Amino acid sequence: MEEKMKIAVIASGRGSNFIALAKACREDGYPAEIALLITDNPEAGALAFARDNGIESFVVDCGSRRGSMSPESSEKMRRLCTERGVELVCLAGFMRIVKGSLLDEYAGRMLNIHPALLPSFKGLHGQKQALDYGVKVSGCTVHFVDAGVDTGPIIIQKVVPVMRDDTEESLSARILVEEHKAYPEAVRLYAGGKINIEGRRVLISDEH
Ligand code: GRF
Repeated sequence: MEEKMKIAVIASGRGSNFIALAKACREDGYPAEIALLITDNPEAGALAFARDNGIESFVVDCGSRRGSMSPESSEKMRRLCTERGVELVCLAGFMRIVKGSLLDEYAGRMLNIHPALLPSFKGLHGQKQALDYGVKVSGCTVHFVDAGVDTGPIIIQKVVPVMRDDTEESLSARILVEEHKAYPEAVRLYAGGKINIEGRRVLISDEH
């Protein structure tokens, strides 16, 4: 049997993308397995799922600066990942900008999911930004993480319509359904060795 790629998921909250990834990893032939969950939030919903499903999990205090992480916490996460042979780090609703030794170690090996069609509506509340702007379609993006905010090369995007009566909640829910497909697909491609980055473009083998 082929060895599976070990991935770490870093999440701050509800954890539905983490759960979608964990479920995908249970499928026959899926090329990745979750080695650990890391969170900065002891109340994260993701933690309960990890504990109930035998996935090793850690709470790392990232400091009190909102949206930022301390150098110590970055190093701690880096060590947790490297000690377990993690080859891919997946940010899934991690509410801080990743920097420091974790980002250095996993440059080109770290993914994020964003609830809008990048490069539109970066940062927080991508769904509300889309609604307020009046776009007719929105969606989600899985991309590599670089030193910017939601700026790395794009792997997969999925599109949903914006409906006349949409609220932030209803649009978010429609996008979330696609997020739960897009993230496992992107990890499958990465772990299956199907991805090449050429500058800003992510080339996927077997794709036109
Ligand atoms: C998702 O909408 C994701 O795109 C964004 O944060 C949210 C996390 O949701 N980055 P969950 O914790 O995975 O349910």
